Amino acid sequence: MKQPFFYDITLRDGNQSLKKPWQLSEKQFIFEKLHELNVQAVEVGFPASSHMDFEACKTLADMAWDNLVVSALARAVKSDIDSAIKAIGHSKIPRVHTFLTLSPFHMKYVLNKKPDYCAKVAIEAVEYATKNIKKINKDAQVQFSVEHFGDCIENIDFVVDTLKKIVKAGAYVINLPNTVERTRPATFINLIEKVKNALPEDVIISMHNHNDLGMATATTVEGYFAGAIQLECCLNGLGERAGNTDFAQVAVALHNNGVDVPVNLEKIYETSMIISQMAKVQIYEKAPLIGPEALAHRSGIHQDGAIKTKDMDFGAYRPIKPSLIGRDDDEKIGFTSQSGKTAVFEIINNAGYPITIEEAVRLTPIVKEISEKKGELGTDEILKVYFREILDVKGAFELVSFKLVGGDKFKLGFKFNGELKEVEGSGNGPLDACLDALKNAGFSRKLSFYKQYALDEDKMGAGASAMSVIHLVGKNNEEIIGRAIDQNTARANVKAIFNALNQVYK
Ligand code: KIV
Ligand code: ZN
Repeated sequence: MKQPFFYDITLRDGNQSLKKPWQLSEKQFIFEKLHELNVQAVEVGFPASSHMDFEACKTLADMAWDNLVVSALARAVKSDIDSAIKAIGHSKIPRVHTFLTLSPFHMKYVLNKKPDYCAKVAIEAVEYATKNIKKINKDAQVQFSVEHFGDCIENIDFVVDTLKKIVKAGAYVINLPNTVERTRPATFINLIEKVKNALPEDVIISMHNHNDLGMATATTVEGYFAGAIQLECCLNGLGERAGNTDFAQVAVALHNNGVDVPVNLEKIYETSMIISQMAKVQIYEKAPLIGPEALAHRSGIHQDGAIKTKDMDFGAYRPIKPSLIGRDDDEKIGFTSQSGKTAVFEIINNAGYPITIEEAVRLTPIVKEISEKKGELGTDEILKVYFREILDVKGAFELVSFKLVGGDKFKLGFKFNGELKEVEGSGNGPLDACLDALKNAGFSRKLSFYKQYALDEDKMGAGASAMSVIHLVGKNNEEIIGRAIDQNTARANVKAIFNALNQVYK
């Protein structure tokens, strides 16, 4: 299988569909981006369309990097072809791209010409272009497009016959556009195969698929496997009406299917963002690969799979590693009523707060209920529930005061079911001494784990604070996790103990 040849049409078909076509400086900037992407050919414009486009084509032809094919569009008329040659003939590998329809519908209702007449015009245009561009550069090429090739089902034999003559007249590339997408990809590919099989091996078959029914990527990818190696694509799928085939989708789909794709995939995301801004065409939320939602998971099942496979090349619910196209954001876990415990766990954990999966299970129905009314919940809203349900547990205990006296004496004042108790304890450090005081009051618990975290200042507006996590073991070996936050580290520890006790004494 030959490597795909990426022929970029952003500066021509993409540009011609913009509400405000690009100025020279903008075209220059995008041309550089196409260089970074390492496309093999750039259709720089349609020189006969305006003075500005002629000048742009000329300038970009000067800027061409080694091995780049610089192409310019020309209708099958001498003046257009002359203008294209004038604009890009001096580039390293110039290509004149001329076109004419051979579709029965279009020839009859738009051109009002007979098929034989159109065939003759097309052949003569290719002959003329070949003769004149080769005078300037022996490596120059001519491409012929059958505009509306997708509409040539009933006269495909006539089209094949004409294309044989067009190749003899000098065409190096035969482009078969789906100018308006109307049929199944398979029907279109069938037409491509008919042309491919009828023409000499060395003729390059190209595809240029518009996306009217949303199948342009599929058609282009399948067309490549049917032997059309030149793929005409547009960044962000720009182009007339619903656009042209999306460059990123084709490149990544081929890559994912084992094809050696000769473009710098890691430049795709950044370039797409730039193109969106420059074209003033927003990337829609659900756009494959580059859309803001393309990495978002909201259902519990998907979130679970996504998290379990997040560091793997092959993701349970994603087609690529985001870094493949240079995306530096990761899969996004959003919490809605459709989400589950894994999302609660991830969101709280990612916000820097410790939580166990059992606690996440306990919080899930509570946040789900809130989300049923509000829709997707932000991290802060989920944290509020975490603070209320995990950190601020109401129970029989209420801390009143504590004081460390001397080296290890600990005076503790607390209420138990409203009754004030004042006790003392001692031990190896304040935590130990506090537990000793509680033991003296009849609430004996052993410490099995302790950790204190520093929290960022901005979290819940609490200022710089510490979070203490302690695990207490009861008489029957049952373990309770106590957590508390306070700006005072010693108070965070004592509050964590009370937090644990309140989970037992409700
Ligand atoms: O869509 C189309 O048919 C075209 C041709 C000029 C190639 O853009
Ligand atoms: Zn087009």
